[in-house]
Amino acid sequence: DGQISHTFVIFGASGDLSRKKIYPTLWLLYRDDLLAKPIKFCGYARSKLTVENIEGNCRQYMKVQPNEETKYEEFWALNDYVIGSYDNSSGFELLNRQLTLMENKNRANRIFYLALPPSVFEDVTVNIKQNCMSASGWNRVIIEKPFGRDAASSQALSDHLAKLFHEKQIYRIDHYLGKEMVQNLMTIRFGNKILNTTWNRDNIASVLITFKEPFGTQGRGGYFDAFGIIRDVMQNHLLQILSLVAMEKPVSCLPDDIRDEKVKVLKCIKTLTLDDMVLGQYVGNPDGTTDDARNGYLDDPTVKNGSITPTYALGVLKINNERWQGVSFILRCGKALNERKAEVRIQYQDVPGDIFEGSTKRNELVIRVQPGEAMYLKVMTKSPGITFDIEETELDLTYAHRYKDSYLPDAYERLILDVFSGSQMHFVRSDELREAWRIFTPILHKIEQERIQPITYQYGSRGPKQADVKCEQNNFKYSGSY
Ligand code: BG6
Repeated sequence: DGQISHTFVIFGASGDLSRKKIYPTLWLLYRDDLLAKPIKFCGYARSKLTVENIEGNCRQYMKVQPNEETKYEEFWALNDYVIGSYDNSSGFELLNRQLTLMENKNRANRIFYLALPPSVFEDVTVNIKQNCMSASGWNRVIIEKPFGRDAASSQALSDHLAKLFHEKQIYRIDHYLGKEMVQNLMTIRFGNKILNTTWNRDNIASVLITFKEPFGTQGRGGYFDAFGIIRDVMQNHLLQILSLVAMEKPVSCLPDDIRDEKVKVLKCIKTLTLDDMVLGQYVGNPDGTTDDARNGYLDDPTVKNGSITPTYALGVLKINNERWQGVSFILRCGKALNERKAEVRIQYQDVPGDIFEGSTKRNELVIRVQPGEAMYLKVMTKSPGITFDIEETELDLTYAHRYKDSYLPDAYERLILDVFSGSQMHFVRSDELREAWRIFTPILHKIEQERIQPITYQYGSRGPKQADVKCEQNNFKYSGSY
């Protein structure tokens, strides 16, 4: 009965995510011969389009080298497109007929990617289940955040999905879990005696996890305003990093052993209060050199007048367990800041019994997620030469120097490949999601119900000064400008 065929269905094929991420990723995986064969791709959306139109939409994001044109055409020849609505089964029946024509009837696996706004999640998943499941192979569904907007709505979505699919069929993407240095966290911790044995409250003073972007909402204000930076970045990307930094050692590297530990450490975190947070919203910089920089958040026409949605947030989380009691985990994220950066900064305690007249600085292990993957350890050393001065320097593993020739795939490349191979290691399980919402829901409700005003900060700055103060109050000592 032939080889198993694979079909990858993209719902929302004409949208932004498909154009910028999904099609380009599928192309790169196809180009590098990483996908199971035979493979077909099928877009689905409401717009009257053809595969040629979709190709045209995507072209500028596809990264095609001159010698790859033939393969590129081969890729698009494997594509199809079906027009249909999201809330009506007839389009899905049509899709299913089309898929059946494209596949090996006896052995077909299907992946469904929902590159769609949350308003249609429920209809689409019901319609997939009723009309589009392969009976002769596996079916997997990939979904993107937002997974609800608080504990109750997220639970409702989880319950809805659980009625239709097994957890093993659901792949919740948090694309930070596909980044090289985030995936490296487990190796750094559990593959190094020297780090592993100091990874606790006896040695570490505080942990700062940062996400910064140097641009504003850039036309995404409508979406962003309904969610805010806490839901957009902190509750998912930063909390995922935190759980990998703080969890206990899993029994093995099997996906569920790892996710069990992530859930366990999340359960030790108490819910956040306003005292634990600093909230900010950017205003335009009159001296800015671009329109984006001169405009504040409230100047974005897609943002509600008088919106109090934070574009910057700092939150101090405490983990109540034997390893971490008393150590602050500071999550910090913001838009329209002075630079693009995502990093984890583990700050060690002061050296006891100082003999250097107070001139030692704290060791720090920095794991830079982007830009420019790196891991470096800040250490004290004697200044080279005739003096006996001391200075701070770095043991530096910068990937661009050390691993010149290695190709670091984009997060989406790794994650989509994982879906083909059935590995859920880097995907969010429903109980993780539940814990994440438990931690953030009370503060989100309070901010909205009491209309807590964010502190303004200027586009292109480091964010509100109060954030630095909060870091210092939580045993994070500045020795540079982070
Ligand atoms: C997304 C957020 O999840 O992550 C965006 O919705 C943000 O607001 C983006 O810009 C950042 O991702 P990356 O990979 O560019 O750091």
